[in-house]
Amino acid sequence: IETGLPALKDAVPFTMGSAFTRAETLGVHSELLAKHFNGVTPGNELKWDATEPREGEFTLADGDHLVDYGTRHGMTIRGHTLAWHSQTPDWVFADGAAAASKELLLQRLETHVRTLVTRYKGKISAWDVVNEVVDENQPDGLRRSKWYQIAGLDFIRTAFRVAHEADPAAKLFINDYNTEFPRKREALYALVKRLKAEGVPIDGVGHQLHLNIEQPPASSVEATIERFATLGVDQQVTELDVSVYTDFVSSYDSIPPELLVQQGHRYKELFDVFRRHAAQLSSVTVWGESDDVSWLRSWPITRLNAPLLFDDDLQAKPAYWAVVDPA
Ligand code: XIL
Repeated sequence: IETGLPALKDAVPFTMGSAFTRAETLGVHSELLAKHFNGVTPGNELKWDATEPREGEFTLADGDHLVDYGTRHGMTIRGHTLAWHSQTPDWVFADGAAAASKELLLQRLETHVRTLVTRYKGKISAWDVVNEVVDENQPDGLRRSKWYQIAGLDFIRTAFRVAHEADPAAKLFINDYNTEFPRKREALYALVKRLKAEGVPIDGVGHQLHLNIEQPPASSVEATIERFATLGVDQQVTELDVSVYTDFVSSYDSIPPELLVQQGHRYKELFDVFRRHAAQLSSVTVWGESDDVSWLRSWPITRLNAPLLFDDDLQAKPAYWAVVDPA
């Protein structure tokens, strides 16, 4: 890695995080993480399919490894995620050949949440308790996941209650994508407002911010942060990346250099907004420290993408310079 560069974490007024996986705790990726980031989020290792593949069988070796890594490096650790419709084994929602009852589902959720949050008590300081529960195209704004179909809003209430009991000091988040778009923003806003009014222990809202080089404008990100500020909740950017593609089908053999410059301008605009709202935003996490490890190389299709701050050789991109030296 380039050792003479200014550290990202010293250039911003909030925690600067990255997603990472076990392989990235070794070698040059680990050096890059340690130099530039003071926050980390395990990318997959704390999801349900990784942590409880069969009922009551907790497989936490990878999670332990990543949490130990973050702790040893003095990093703030985000836990991702306790209840999600994706990367969750089918058994969670089943009772033999039938669907699980609401009672059974919530009892499994309680065991799962209590086990994970207790395990990492005092080490993981923020949890994405529920992930992607909003669907702005439903009349009530709630995603028709198996969680919702079986348990309604009670799965959200239970997950937050149990997480809070297990570690009262952990900050508990509701996390979602597309929160920068007005309809999704308002659906999430209404949900958080309702749950807070009920006394559900929600501390914050996580904005994933999977963006692209054109859309949406930084002003809509800013409008979202300002909207949630009126609820008095903490906010974090949890999964930032800026795809060089504006659709789900195009594919480059090599990335046109001008797109990387354009991407730098996008990152600058975004970090200008984040810096202006540092009082509302306690951390900003990019979804990977370097392009070679980005999930956008396999989603939504397999293609060359370059959405992050460092390239495949872990060299600083225009986007990095836009963040450390936005002038
Ligand atoms: C992604 C991981 O990065 C991939 O490795 C995995 O194959 C799929 O999930 N929203 C989320 C994250 O909340 O958990 C997702 O992470 C990216 C989209």
